[in-house]
Amino acid sequence: MRKIKRREFIRNGAVAGMALPMAPMILKQSVVKPLVIASANGNRFKNGGNVTAVQKAFTMMTGGSDVLDAVIAGVNIVELDPLDDSVGYGGLPNADGVVQLDSSCMHGPKKRAGAVGALEGVRTPSLVAKAVMENTDHHLIVGKGAQDFARNMGFKIEDDLNTENSRKQWLEWKRRTDPGHYLDPKKRAEAGKRAALEMLAEGLIREENLHGTINCDGINSRGEICGVTTTSGLAWKIPGRLGDSPILGAGLYVDGAVGAAGSTGRGEANLFNLCSFVIVEEMRRGAHPKDAGMEVLTRIKNNTIEKRLLNSRGLPNFGISFYILNAKGEYAGVTMYEGGSFALCNENGPQTLKSEPLLQGKPSD
Ligand code: GLY
Repeated sequence: MRKIKRREFIRNGAVAGMALPMAPMILKQSVVKPLVIASANGNRFKNGGNVTAVQKAFTMMTGGSDVLDAVIAGVNIVELDPLDDSVGYGGLPNADGVVQLDSSCMHGPKKRAGAVGALEGVRTPSLVAKAVMENTDHHLIVGKGAQDFARNMGFKIEDDLNTENSRKQWLEWKRRTDPGHYLDPKKRAEAGKRAALEMLAEGLIREENLHGTINCDGINSRGEICGVTTTSGLAWKIPGRLGDSPILGAGLYVDGAVGAAGSTGRGEANLFNLCSFVIVEEMRRGAHPKDAGMEVLTRIKNNTIEKRLLNSRGLPNFGISFYILNAKGEYAGVTMYEGGSFALCNENGPQTLKSEPLLQGKPSD
């Protein structure tokens, strides 16, 4: 008699009632409603096409594509769209005017991950992160090594990923911070921050784009969870600065049995607290996505004590947001201050929903 493989055994439901070591996986297959969650730009940009990132990811996922392929195809729309100056092509460059991109991805069922940091010349760092995951023994490749790796994998390397807009914004920043070449380092850092805040106040750039990013996570009807985060990082950063996005446990964390969390906003605050990892661990202990998110926002608030990072109320003077789903298909968008939103696509189509804030008012209050 042909031996029945375990997978067939599960699929056919051959022997009801027999104890199976991984039985919960079967339950997931029938009960989870598929959904895709992302930062708000996941339901804003279309790169000249008809669909947003969450729509694309949801359609591919429910059409049978691998969940990671689906969420990456979604964020590729935003990476390639020059109108989003926080991600991929057209992302705001570093202090030297060079666009350096970061990305990470995690595959829940395969328990694999890949990431790149400070990558220059490739419009879609998320695909290079996936290539790291698929083709190497490593989880993170940065700088010139990341670009050499991408070239060797067949990615097109471009000299310059600036657009007319990102170059214009950089020139404006440079004009304000470096009128007679360099000030002393402290004054230069202060001038850089002041110029960025002035440009925010004048509406030249949006608050969320100073640390802008896209995170996108999906769960399909079989309960398979994957996620991706991709960014041009902090606008006008010191060249080589990595934020949270390429760091597993910070800008993204996925445990296929528990859930996924990803972030946008001030990467340094997230790196210090490894929030995506903490969120997933909180959910492992039974917390709802919203409560897990509130826990890390509170932790960030309590760990922010440097005066330069506090507003007049003694609260963090920056924004940070998390996008969270668990293996049951429950989800939450949470954010430090009121007014934030997140993107979602489920059987009701693409939506932009209000994020749950920890604090009232604005970071600058
Ligand atoms: N969260 C994006 C960054 O800080 O680089």
